[in-house]
Amino acid sequence: MIEKIERLRTEYSNASGSVTDLKQLEELRLKFLSRNGALQQLLEEMKSVPKEDKPLVGKELNILKKYIQDNFTSLKESLESQFASTASYLDLSLPGRQIEFGSKHLLTQTLDEIKKIFKGFGFSVADGPELESDFNNFTALNFPDDHPARDMQDTFFVNKNFVMRTHTSPVQVRLMQKQVPPIRSIMPGKVYRSEAISARSYCLFHQVEGLYVDKNVTFAELKGTLVSFARQFYATDLKYRFRPSFFPFTEPSAEMDITCYICQGNGCRVCKGSGWLEILGCGMVDPNVLRNVGYDPEQVSGYAFGMGIERTAMLKYGINDIRILFDNDIRFLRQF
Ligand code: PHE
Repeated sequence: MIEKIERLRTEYSNASGSVTDLKQLEELRLKFLSRNGALQQLLEEMKSVPKEDKPLVGKELNILKKYIQDNFTSLKESLESQFASTASYLDLSLPGRQIEFGSKHLLTQTLDEIKKIFKGFGFSVADGPELESDFNNFTALNFPDDHPARDMQDTFFVNKNFVMRTHTSPVQVRLMQKQVPPIRSIMPGKVYRSEAISARSYCLFHQVEGLYVDKNVTFAELKGTLVSFARQFYATDLKYRFRPSFFPFTEPSAEMDITCYICQGNGCRVCKGSGWLEILGCGMVDPNVLRNVGYDPEQVSGYAFGMGIERTAMLKYGINDIRILFDNDIRFLRQF
């Protein structure tokens, strides 16, 4: 009998050691602990144990019973808590969470497209600082001392000699100061103007400037380049016109208009009934500017142009309020 008790102990201990889930636990209970289980059978055999052996056998049987019951209870508790905790975290039937992908901001997309077109014409991309000297932003670009753009009303002065650049044209000055012609670059970046914020103007916006300086650069080349650009960027069949204009750093200066592609030139809200959209400013680099950076205007000439990236995106995509480009409202940004 003692032997049987030992055998059952070993048998139970092996069986319980390999239990890893609740189903196997139930099998273990049926085999050892149920009413017809191995333990109960052994307890019943007590009846046939000779009287004098009963105390010893009974004692051993009780030890075995307690061992099996205690071990079973703790095994049950540990398995139940393990499965309960995984169940609350891991529901394999739940639908997955959707991953949100970001995308390029409309202004970045617009600039990328502009860059791509000009790179195709052989222009490189140059950069300059947003905090500029008054000299690079104004003086070198032929702005007279009393020019209205120098007024605090239009310009954020950081101190007497430094401003937040009001246009990307100072990058022209920087490029020409450190390179010898030929120069053929576009210069994108942020610019700042002390203007009241409205649907049409913002205190911060982006421009892209272009500069080509070499021997014998002509206005015809300027026109050819800008017309090719507009045809690639806006519409292949557009009509255009160059209107005389004024910038201190170019002479002659012009503004370029294209036919309104919304109304095909018939007049609508976007072109304010004129049939034309102004897309950029341009001109031949003023000889004074060439002299200011140490070039000889008898030897080299150049053209420059500049456009607002916000304005360009607004024209192309029919957006009527510049502020929406800075709001970061996902519902707007998702449309592009
Ligand atoms: N810098 C001018 C502006 O801010 C644009 C421009 C650039 C005009 C280059 C002519 C040539 O309005």
